Amino acid sequence: MTSVSEIMESMEYGPSVEDASAVREWLKARGPFGHFIGGSFTKPAESFDSIDPARSEVLAQVSQGSAKDVARAVRAARKAQPGWAALGGHERARFLYAIARTIQKRERFLSVLETLDNGKPLRESRDIDVPLVVRHFYHHAGWAELRDSEFPGHAPLGVCGQIIPWNFPLLMLAWKVAPALAAGNTVVLKPAEYTSLTALAFAEICQQVGLPAGVVNIVTGDGATGAALVAAEVDKIAFTGSTEVGRQIARTLAGTSQRLTLELGGKSPFVVMDDADLDAAVEGVVDSIWFNQGQVCCAGSRILVAEAVADRFEHLLQMRMAKLRVGPPLDKSTDVGAIVHPVQKQRIAQICAAAVAAGAELVGGAEGQGCFIAPGYLRNIAPGNPGMTEEIFGPIATLSTFRTPDEAADLANSTHYGLAASVWSESATVATDMAARIKAGVVWVNSANLFDAAAPFGGVRDSGYGREGGHEGMLDYLRAPAMKPGRDSTPAAVSAVPDSGSSGDPAQIDRTAKLYIGGAQKRPDAGASYAAQGQLVPLGGRKDIRNAVEAAHAGRGKWAGLGAHGRAQVLYFLAENLSQRREELAAFAPASEIDCAIRRCFFYAGFADKFDGRTVAAKPGHLVTVLHEPHGVMGVVCPNDAPLAGFVSLVLPAIAMGNAVVAVPSQDRPMAALTLAQVLDCSDVSAGVVNMITGPREELALALARHDDVQALWAVGPAELLRPVEEAAAQVLTPVCAPSAKDWTAAEVEGREFLRAATRTKTIWLPYGA
Ligand code: NAI
Repeated sequence: MTSVSEIMESMEYGPSVEDASAVREWLKARGPFGHFIGGSFTKPAESFDSIDPARSEVLAQVSQGSAKDVARAVRAARKAQPGWAALGGHERARFLYAIARTIQKRERFLSVLETLDNGKPLRESRDIDVPLVVRHFYHHAGWAELRDSEFPGHAPLGVCGQIIPWNFPLLMLAWKVAPALAAGNTVVLKPAEYTSLTALAFAEICQQVGLPAGVVNIVTGDGATGAALVAAEVDKIAFTGSTEVGRQIARTLAGTSQRLTLELGGKSPFVVMDDADLDAAVEGVVDSIWFNQGQVCCAGSRILVAEAVADRFEHLLQMRMAKLRVGPPLDKSTDVGAIVHPVQKQRIAQICAAAVAAGAELVGGAEGQGCFIAPGYLRNIAPGNPGMTEEIFGPIATLSTFRTPDEAADLANSTHYGLAASVWSESATVATDMAARIKAGVVWVNSANLFDAAAPFGGVRDSGYGREGGHEGMLDYLRAPAMKPGRDSTPAAVSAVPDSGSSGDPAQIDRTAKLYIGGAQKRPDAGASYAAQGQLVPLGGRKDIRNAVEAAHAGRGKWAGLGAHGRAQVLYFLAENLSQRREELAAFAPASEIDCAIRRCFFYAGFADKFDGRTVAAKPGHLVTVLHEPHGVMGVVCPNDAPLAGFVSLVLPAIAMGNAVVAVPSQDRPMAALTLAQVLDCSDVSAGVVNMITGPREELALALARHDDVQALWAVGPAELLRPVEEAAAQVLTPVCAPSAKDWTAAEVEGREFLRAATRTKTIWLPYGA
């Protein structure tokens, strides 16, 4: 007799294919599609095919948006924006709620359409994508209602250009459109060329709920349409896609003062410690790299396993992998569907072939007919192998081992990316320690690929900047209460005076001020000075900036490790010492600036332990914590005017949050900052936390912007300075903030905005319960 367990073992699922007739009828009736501009669809123009990658079948024709179409859409959005903002939070909330409700009612239609267009399994579009879309609009209906009370004094940015990828078409649309609308902006959105259809169905929903014309505009097309949107007169670009295109967009927007958020690629670590629940971890791999065919920016694509459990883990992994069903996406029992497009399939195959050629072994990962690739992983893979360094963006992970937690953290961080990480350990201590050490915007403990509208999402390093979701996501669509913008004066030309340091006259040496690097007075590398404020001031250069960045990295661990209370104490001590050195400082800065410096020390000492993160109400059973982490090493190019107040207004919030700083003091009046260096020295500010390089502002700012180990840059100056600086920073994807103030001693030039810019969030997901 067959036992129940044998039946359970052998029982195969039969096919259970979702009916797509309603969607096909809609496509037939509605296509070919024009753009959605100013509340109605345009006549279809030059068009391209949108295909079902699972059957290589044309689903519809979609229009290729021209620069003219983009301009029309931006005009419509511009016209609609004041009215939309003036509607008030409650009215906007009602619209967002109506959108959420309507999507909820059309869940089945939208998930089938998404699956047809993208190739993802229906189980995922139905159970993950569309419910998260609904959740996003509900959540942001709430933010619309609460905007004025929760973000006092904030204003919408205006018109937002939004460019999204093809891996989660409707979900990425929701992530972009919902917060923008809640904040009072209007949008022009460009979907990815492979997957425009759910965005067009969304346009119909906007019509259906009576959204005012021009609030949402959708222009379809390829990268050229995207580039036209970037070049258009919009107030912000929000982009999700490849790092390469993200970098290009950052370069284009350099010096324009348009806001930019970038959610780019990743090569996220999936770390299995030796005490992990291995069965759960294997299930985590399924959700991580075999979810959505691995076309997930935050996929845990680099599996790192403790050597002690590696054999057992790999055995379990192979067993589980063999059970995954690759097949028609509309079949409800399919686990792995089709890759979005033949081009992407080819790309995945190419990287795998290169990985194998470089010595890795591919387990599974067979190419099927059409757009299908079976799940797989690369083993015996060296750190420099292309399979290890490049984002494969397909259902292929890498598998390697580590011996100690330190090695695990090093391997996890040995990538240019920093989007997400997944950590598996039954010990809360081990897991949270690893979560703290990994450089990423999101860390999932004993879980993977969890998302929620309340939980900020976004990366660091080559994975971009800015956050989507929750409070932080809203801030990226709002303008903070404005400081009174000011004009900084242009520094006088610098002419080098060679040092006479070798003259052997100690008095001579003492009269020349020094750079301040790693807590010590240093001569500039070029051995030259320039005249400023009747003194000889060190003429710093690129080499000095490099030395200072190195010193800052060496010093920052100890400083961050002091903790907020410890840093606050040091800032109070600094205030005390500033009061005692008033007379010395008075030679180089007016009394108002010295008073301001003392006040700012108190202010940021007070705030050091109060700029808290928060725990957000995401999924039940999950503790989701959003931490404010320091960037690491920050470059700070100070105003030429207000030599002391400008310096402290920027440097103090940065160090209060635990960053180390390489500062370029006022070019014309550097002596106040250099005098302050001596005060820092005797105030327990540890070596390397504040470094000062004096000299030509532009050259030094460019050296900071080009340095790929500077994690954030603040630069004060005119557009002529900011454009090249932002262009250079775009190359290494360093976020740049360009503060400007009319009066650097004013009370408005301190506060949360500065602390926010001095930090970035890390969202840690910690499931609890049995
Ligand atoms: P992509 O970055 O070219 O496309 C993403 C979006 O940007 C699409 O809407 C596209 O039309 C648009 N776009 C392309 N060029 C543009 C330009 N110059 N200016 C403005 N918009 C532009 O990504 P692609 O080629 O589809 O995929 C290539 C690789 O990028 C993938 O294999 C994957 O590694 C990565 N990727 C990462 C995504 C993520 O979620 N982080 C999403 C999609 C791709």
